[in-house]
Amino acid sequence: MLGAVGTAGAASVAGCGFQAPTAEEESPAESPTERVARLDRYPRILVGSVGDLGDGDVETFEYPLEGTRNFLTRIEGEAWDGVGSDGDIVAYNGLCTHMGCSVEGLVDPGQEMAGPCSCHYTTFDLSKGGMVVSGAATTDLPQVRLDVEDGDIYATGIDGLVYGYRNNLRDGTPIEAAAEE
Ligand code: FES
Repeated sequence: MLGAVGTAGAASVAGCGFQAPTAEEESPAESPTERVARLDRYPRILVGSVGDLGDGDVETFEYPLEGTRNFLTRIEGEAWDGVGSDGDIVAYNGLCTHMGCSVEGLVDPGQEMAGPCSCHYTTFDLSKGGMVVSGAATTDLPQVRLDVEDGDIYATGIDGLVYGYRNNLRDGTPIEAAAEE
């Protein structure tokens, strides 16, 4: 019945050239805000492989929103909440918590540090939850929670607020969740 109405509505009105919109055309496209509204918890996203992450490697990934950049690395020793057989694999957000300059290119896995930040010289300890070691920042670097399953590394959440966000899960487009979610 609805289909019949829609079809009839799509027909032009005789004599005036007016083309009534179809039901599909009347429904506005899903807005970014509506998509974000569905992300009310952290997704579980594949971000790397234990076997592919060598000593000193630094890889980047976006999580939980497109454009939220983080880095994954294997540091020299065991880390708080580190994963893998030696507990030495960690991930952090790549923005300095002071004023948002990127530190993802300043990661030193051998020294277990990120920084010093090129803006105001903050250094973060990657073995201790991103703790501020020195510099202008007063907030630890947000740590990405990780889980390992069958050698694959998954991001499952973030501890701490990413610089510039009111909520890590809002104000952007979510990365696609892994299939098992
Ligand atoms: S932005 Fe990094 S120390 Fe200021």
